[in-house]
Amino acid sequence: MSAKRKTLSAPQRPGSIAPLRRPDHLIVDNLTTAVLVLDAGLRVHSLNPAAEALLDVSANQVRGMDLRQLLPEAEVLAAALARLTASGYPLTERDMQLVLPNTQVITVDCVMTPVNESPAFAGTLVELLDLDRHKQISREEQLMSQNESARALVRGLAHEIRNPLGGLRGAAQLLDRELDSEELKEYTRIIVHEADRLQALLERLLGPRTRLKKRTMNIHEVTEHVRALVEAEAPPSVVVDRDYDPSIPELEADPELLVQAALNVVKNAVQAVDGAGRILIKTRIHRQYTIGQRRHRLVVRVDVSDNGSGIPEELKALIFYPMVTGRSDGTGLGLSIAQSLVNQHGGLIECHSEPGNTTFSILLPVGDGGENSSRVQNPIMGPGRR
Ligand SMILES: Nc1ncnc2c1ncn2[C@@H]1O[C@H](COP(=O)(O)OP(=O)(O)O)[C@@H](O)[C@H]1O
Ligand SMILES: [Mg+2]
Repeated sequence: MSAKRKTLSAPQRPGSIAPLRRPDHLIVDNLTTAVLVLDAGLRVHSLNPAAEALLDVSANQVRGMDLRQLLPEAEVLAAALARLTASGYPLTERDMQLVLPNTQVITVDCVMTPVNESPAFAGTLVELLDLDRHKQISREEQLMSQNESARALVRGLAHEIRNPLGGLRGAAQLLDRELDSEELKEYTRIIVHEADRLQALLERLLGPRTRLKKRTMNIHEVTEHVRALVEAEAPPSVVVDRDYDPSIPELEADPELLVQAALNVVKNAVQAVDGAGRILIKTRIHRQYTIGQRRHRLVVRVDVSDNGSGIPEELKALIFYPMVTGRSDGTGLGLSIAQSLVNQHGGLIECHSEPGNTTFSILLPVGDGGENSSRVQNPIMGPGRR
C-alpha cells in the first residue's frame, strides 16, 4: 500500500523492523472499523477515515462538535455514553440504529471504551461496526457466485447444443441439394431456417466474447457513449440526465464490454419508464471499498436510476439469473450478461428498487487488483458508504 511506503523511514536492514514515524496513525488511518474519540464533554476530538466514510462527514466539519448534535436522533448511543460516564466501564451496544446527518439510517455494533490514562486527556473511544455493510458484502458475494454458476450452466448448455445443431443444419443443406422436388425442398429450408434461429439464440446465451481487451480509459467514455445510443432511440419524453464526478481517475478496463454492460442496464431503465420518465446516470468514486472479498483502494460507481414502476417484488431476488424476465418480449439475458461482464473486471452490479425509484449500481475497481486491492479474510466491513 502506498500509505505504508510513505511512512517507512530509512532503508530496512534485512531481518530488522523499520521504525515507523507515526505508527498509531498508520494503524488507525487504515482500519476498516470506524473509530471516534470523544472528549469528556462528548465532543468529537478526532475520527479516522473509516468513521468519516461511515458517517458521511469530513473530520474538519465535525471536529469539536457535540456528538449529540452530530447524531441528534441517537438516543440509545447518548444513553449508553451517559451510563459509561457514570460507571467508568467499557460498554457494547449491539444492533444499534443510527440516523446519519445525511438522514440515512444505518445499523451498527458499537463499542465504547473510557480513555483516561493520560492526565491531559479523558474521554471515550467509540468503535462502530457497520452491520448493513457486512450483510451487503455477504449478499454481494452470494450474488457473484450465483451469477457465475448460472452463467456457467447456460454457457455449457449452449456449447453442447451448438455442435449437433451445426451438424443438423449441414445435413439439411446436403439433403436439399439431393432433392429435386421443390415441395420437399421447402422442408429442408425450414430446417435450415429454424437451425439459424436457434443458432442466434445460442449466440445470445453465450454472450459477448470473454477475453478482455483492457486499456486505460475514463469511465465517462462509456457513460457518454451509452447515453448517446439511448437518447437516439428513446422518445423525447424520456429524459436522460447525468451527474458526473469529473475527478474520477482513469481505470484499466475493456471499454467495449463495459459499454455493453451499461447499455443493458440503461435500456432496462428506458423500458421501465414506459415511454415517459427520467433516467439519471451518476458517477462517483469510493475509497477503501470492499467488493465481494476484495478491498480496493479506489472503486468507481456508476448509478443508473429511473423513476419507473420498480422491479416486481417476486422478481427482485432473481433478476440477475439468465432467462429471468418480467417482460413478455424479454429474453432475460441482459442483466445476467451485464453482471458477468462487470464481474470479469473484478466489479459488481447491485440493485435497489422501490416503485418510482430504481437504481442499478455498477461498481468497478480502479487498478488491476494488485497494489490497489487486498483480500479481506473476514469481510467485516469496508467503509465508504453509498
Ligand atoms: N430499471 C428497472 N426497473 C424495473 N424492472 C427492471 C429494471 N431493470 C430490470 N428489470 C426487471 O428485470 C428483468 C430482467 O432484465 P434483463 O435481464 O435485462 O432481461 P429482459 O430485459 O430481457 O427482460 C426485466 O424483465 C424487468 O422485469
Ligand atoms: Mg434487458
